[in-house]
Amino acid sequence: MDDIILEVQSMKKYFPIKKGFFKRTVGQIKAVDDVSFHLKEGETFGLVGESGCGKSTLGKSLLRAIEPTEGSVKFKNRHNEMVDVMDLDYKHLRDIRRDMQLIFQDPYSSLNPRMTVLNIIGEPLICNKLAKGEELREKVKHLMEIVGLNSKHLERYPHAFSGGQRQRIGIARALATNPKFLVCDEAVSALDVSIQAQIINLLEDLQKTLNLSYLFISHDLGVIQHISDRVGVMYVGKMVETATTEELFTNPKHPYTEALLSAKPLPNPRLKKERIILKGEVANPANPPSGCYFHPRCPYAQEICKVQAPSFNEVTPGHQVACHFAEELDLKGSVAI
Ligand SMILES: Nc1ncnc2c1ncn2[C@@H]1O[C@H](COP(=O)(O)OP(=O)(O)OP(=O)(O)O)[C@@H](O)[C@H]1O
Ligand code: SF4
Ligand SMILES: [Mg+2]
Repeated sequence: MDDIILEVQSMKKYFPIKKGFFKRTVGQIKAVDDVSFHLKEGETFGLVGESGCGKSTLGKSLLRAIEPTEGSVKFKNRHNEMVDVMDLDYKHLRDIRRDMQLIFQDPYSSLNPRMTVLNIIGEPLICNKLAKGEELREKVKHLMEIVGLNSKHLERYPHAFSGGQRQRIGIARALATNPKFLVCDEAVSALDVSIQAQIINLLEDLQKTLNLSYLFISHDLGVIQHISDRVGVMYVGKMVETATTEELFTNPKHPYTEALLSAKPLPNPRLKKERIILKGEVANPANPPSGCYFHPRCPYAQEICKVQAPSFNEVTPGHQVACHFAEELDLKGSVAI
């Protein structure tokens, strides 16, 4: 337990659906519904799933960038004390946010176009009263250098930079307060493939030198496979499978994971591969199906799947699955990339 930096237990985030003149709550969107997982120090936990399955909501909830409905988030702070982020008042929350940061998807819209790079990267240092004046300039220059930007450009505005450079600015800003844990939400998805590789390399180098832990959210299984030590697969607000990356990709135990892996585009077009085309659309989190949420799309579904939700069980050490037939099914993994 000593090396665990983050432990999320029974996290729920429900968005109320309001209707009518009096805005009465008529239902709930269960965007994150009872999710538990942990992260070790220096580790990358990849989070994958189709659009709308709750990845971003989970990432934001555990930083309390949005207020979760329920759950606990134990986090090891800079003094090596495990604190429950959910119990913190505003002042202590602001303090712990120095240690937990978010890197956004879109390097074009996430940077204020009217601020210079000095102010963008320096803002968290000013807000937390960590530096000002010449010391601030020196710290920002140093941050620019560690993310591979030319520190002479600190008076420039975001429009003067390319997409990849802007993402580097976003990373430098996230690193300004010297955090231990980063949520990278589709951090490379908006970039060209060659630039993606550079930013992934940068994130990997920074992880080693600064001993960072990442929650890396992506719908791109190739990127997830490359960067993650362990992977979690989400479906309609629930975690359906977690395992080490190698185990998950070679020996999936949940039919949804198998389907995702089979739909993963292969980098080598000469490699022929059978594809499972998923039946139907992702279930609606405001009105999910009965029993196992995946049953309307699952090729292995049986009667019990329609009536009883499977529990999330450990099938082999470190490999958890929510499927009634996890131990019986012989599912196909993916070709290594
Ligand atoms: N502020 C909000 N109010 C109401 N519903 C929301 C809100 N934010 C997200 N949702 C809903 O919660 C569900 C999960 O959304 P979320 O953005 O977390 O998914 P995601 O897995 O990150 O998807 P994507 O891959 O498209 O980024 C979706 O049904 C979404 O419509
Ligand atoms: S519990 Fe049933 S429906 Fe759900 S994934 Fe397993 S086999 Fe498919
Ligand atoms: Mg998202």
